[in-house]
Amino acid sequence: MIELEPNLKIRKNIILIGFMGSGKTSVGEKLARARHYRFLDTDQILEEEFGCSIREYFEKKGEEEFRRQETNLMRWLSLSLRGSVLSTGGGLPLREENRSLLRETGVVIYLKASEETTIARLRGDTTRPLLAGEDLSEKVHRLLNERRPIYERAAHYTLETDKKSFYEIIKEIQTVVVF
Ligand code: S3P
Repeated sequence: MIELEPNLKIRKNIILIGFMGSGKTSVGEKLARARHYRFLDTDQILEEEFGCSIREYFEKKGEEEFRRQETNLMRWLSLSLRGSVLSTGGGLPLREENRSLLRETGVVIYLKASEETTIARLRGDTTRPLLAGEDLSEKVHRLLNERRPIYERAAHYTLETDKKSFYEIIKEIQTVVVF
């Protein structure tokens, strides 16, 4: 059997998926720091590439073009990402190709929050184009119901986050992923 250099064995990527406001970025940053991994966020990478915010990009080019850019980015990351924690935009797992790319790229963890928690966290947010305008609760209710089964299908592991501290969430991730 070929012996791998120990460091090579552990440079697995951890990928966080989930609805807007589920804590992907905050958990991802803390997890990366704890494991001395690099932290990346698909929304942040795309905003840098676009040279504008995601909200502005939606206004200028529309959602379909944004989704195309997400897939291009995932294709690139699936080839190049090593030893990183990647947090992803909430709509990224919706495309089937993206779900395959996510699972090829690392261990996919779905951060699942209840509808009430999600609504409370997103109230007053002005950065997410899909939630702009009236009736946040109705939008979150509809989108969550559509997306939950998709997130569950995309993930290797679903982690309930309600009433858990960052410390507890990170500890749980470390029990399911062998670093
Ligand atoms: C989206 C989620 C956002 C961002 C965009 C679309 C979605 O990311 O990619 O506004 O479709 O759920 P966050 O989940 O980081 O808010």
